[in-house]
Amino acid sequence: MHDFHYKNGELYCEGVPVRSVAQRVGTPFYLYSSTTLTNHVRSFAGAFQEVPHLICFALKSNSNGAVLRLLSREGAGADIVSGGELFRALRAGIDPRKIVYAGVGKRRDEIEYALKVGILMFNVESTEELLALDRAAKEMHAVARIALRVNPNIDPKTHAYISTGLKENKFGIPIEHALECYQTAKSLTHVEVTGIHQHIGSQITEVQPFVDALEKLVGFVQELKAAGVGIKYINIGGGLGITYKDETPPHPRDLAKAIQPMLKSAGCTLVLEPGRAIVGNAGILVTNALYHKDSGEKKFLIVDAGMNDLIRPSLYEAYHDIRPVLEDPSAEKMVFDVVGPICESGDFLAKDREMQDVKQGGLIAVMGAGAYGFSMSSNYNSRPRVAEVMARGNEYFIVRERETYNDLIKGEKIPRWLE
Ligand code: LLP
Repeated sequence: MHDFHYKNGELYCEGVPVRSVAQRVGTPFYLYSSTTLTNHVRSFAGAFQEVPHLICFALKSNSNGAVLRLLSREGAGADIVSGGELFRALRAGIDPRKIVYAGVGKRRDEIEYALKVGILMFNVESTEELLALDRAAKEMHAVARIALRVNPNIDPKTHAYISTGLKENKFGIPIEHALECYQTAKSLTHVEVTGIHQHIGSQITEVQPFVDALEKLVGFVQELKAAGVGIKYINIGGGLGITYKDETPPHPRDLAKAIQPMLKSAGCTLVLEPGRAIVGNAGILVTNALYHKDSGEKKFLIVDAGMNDLIRPSLYEAYHDIRPVLEDPSAEKMVFDVVGPICESGDFLAKDREMQDVKQGGLIAVMGAGAYGFSMSSNYNSRPRVAEVMARGNEYFIVRERETYNDLIKGEKIPRWLE
């Protein structure tokens, strides 16, 4: 569910006409619905209320400060993968004791930062990382709480690029080696075994892969117990999918129903790391139709947002619904490739899409763009990153200004010999 809808043929975000935001901030821009975000995070919390749990929002999906502040106020924690994400999470007021830190390549400075602020735990992805954590904690007279990220070798049945729980993926420690690694962890003086973690992939639209993965995990937690290794937190990662086209992903309630019984028997606190399911359908990318062009083979609709603003279609051939901001029932339906201004053939937002012909200067909304939209955007082709706006009821606020040309050259310097 989301709060983008048409009223008299015009697209609104909550009570705000999308057109009025475009008039003020120009295009392209991302527009988020505050109410949708709130509802999504509450639906997770409500679904899992029968078991002790912690929702750690995956910052990589959207790290805008206002989005984070809203989620933090709802009691959410954070799943981070870098020092930069830790900085953002803390700035948004997220309690360090609700922060979990994953990623295969944590640097020493990032580890020190996380130890200094006292995060809940590190999700450790290799034995070498475990040893590095112990060393760093020892030197800092601290203790690193850890979970091992295990790789259960489960097929999440999603796009290969966003599948993470298979042996061929770089993530986690193979479940067969995890016992040995936990024993090593137990023997270390500055590491405290706290939990176990897994994340099998993203945009998962069935409950079964989660059930299969958790079954393996809970079985392993029993094995650990028998070996004298106690676990307080079971972290099942994120990955719950959303509707981009015609998918019917499970509601958090369905997921909870399927996995809660297993969790109750394990007696641990559940950690969830949803990203997309919270923010995906809470955001759109609004762009302006610049030109039409017909190659004889194809009709192109050229818009002012490109792959640098939203890379998902180019990178994963991801489908995003494209809607006119102003519906025109009399307009002809046509089949377009909706493309951006970037100098790459892979720069498209939609291919062979049947849609209302939008006149030059007309506004277009790319739906479901709240997750991995702005956060994956870049300055490629020296394009300033776009503005982000958040609506709530009848009001809206610019939560990130559009970058300027000067922002593009921030930090660049000319060497003396070229002056
Ligand atoms: N936890 C971990 C350890 C993760 O690696 C991820 C996502 C999440 C949680 C959140 O997953 P979510 O609930 O959002 O599915 N850029 C890709 C998605 C990459 C996901 C990477 N990891 C996309 O645009 O589809």
